[in-house]
Amino acid sequence: QQRHKINVAIDGPAGAGKSTIARLVSKELGYVYIDTGAMYRAVTLKAMEKQIPPNDELKIVELTKQLDIELIATESGQKVIVNGIDLTESIRSNEINKQVSKFAGISKLREILVEKQQQLASSKGVVMDGRDIATHVLPNAEVKIFLTASVEERASRRYKEMLEKTPELTITLEQLKNDISLRDQMDLERTASPLKMAEDAIKVDSTNMTIVEVVQTIKELCIKKMGGD
Ligand code: DC
Repeated sequence: QQRHKINVAIDGPAGAGKSTIARLVSKELGYVYIDTGAMYRAVTLKAMEKQIPPNDELKIVELTKQLDIELIATESGQKVIVNGIDLTESIRSNEINKQVSKFAGISKLREILVEKQQQLASSKGVVMDGRDIATHVLPNAEVKIFLTASVEERASRRYKEMLEKTPELTITLEQLKNDISLRDQMDLERTASPLKMAEDAIKVDSTNMTIVEVVQTIKELCIKKMGGD
């Protein structure tokens, strides 16, 4: 039996492991991985560079239309190239972490990025992660996952990840936990596409699961939908 291509939406709060899981699931299925958070981060970085504040919607829309954001899969992970320049590392800075929710709350900016995301998924075969993928970007996605974990677990995972990169970390675990809670709150409470589980999504709580277990769970759901066994 021939398997048909589907789209997979993975939403959830900051630090739930969406990008790691989405990347691995896409690899298992031979699908394209699209990290929509990276797009919001790229716009935030460029706006900050040009000193455009989040309340200047007109300038932000203008800026966003001029950005060519490419997401390229490589062996070492996804690269984010904006107007030809590699911003993979710089969009993950603490400063961007702090500012990005403000920019992601601008509905006109969201419209532009959502359209781009829909185009990227139009021929199916993508695993897309974000906050509003199942509810708004790809409401017809065949598999919809809402990936969560406790705030404590998410903070401690991020902390370990950061320690590996910068052993002389200045931020404490407690501060990180506060940052994550604050970002959750902003993502949940904003008026433009707040983070919300789709009615037909499947909730996967990864607090006590390994990465392999989460990937396996999602992969099995996908294979069922693809008409395989
Ligand atoms: O997943 P992330 O941490 O890279 O997301 C960065 C920010 O962008 C976060 O504040 C939520 C927001 N975001 C969004 O509003 N909609 C998406 N589809 C993806 C991310």
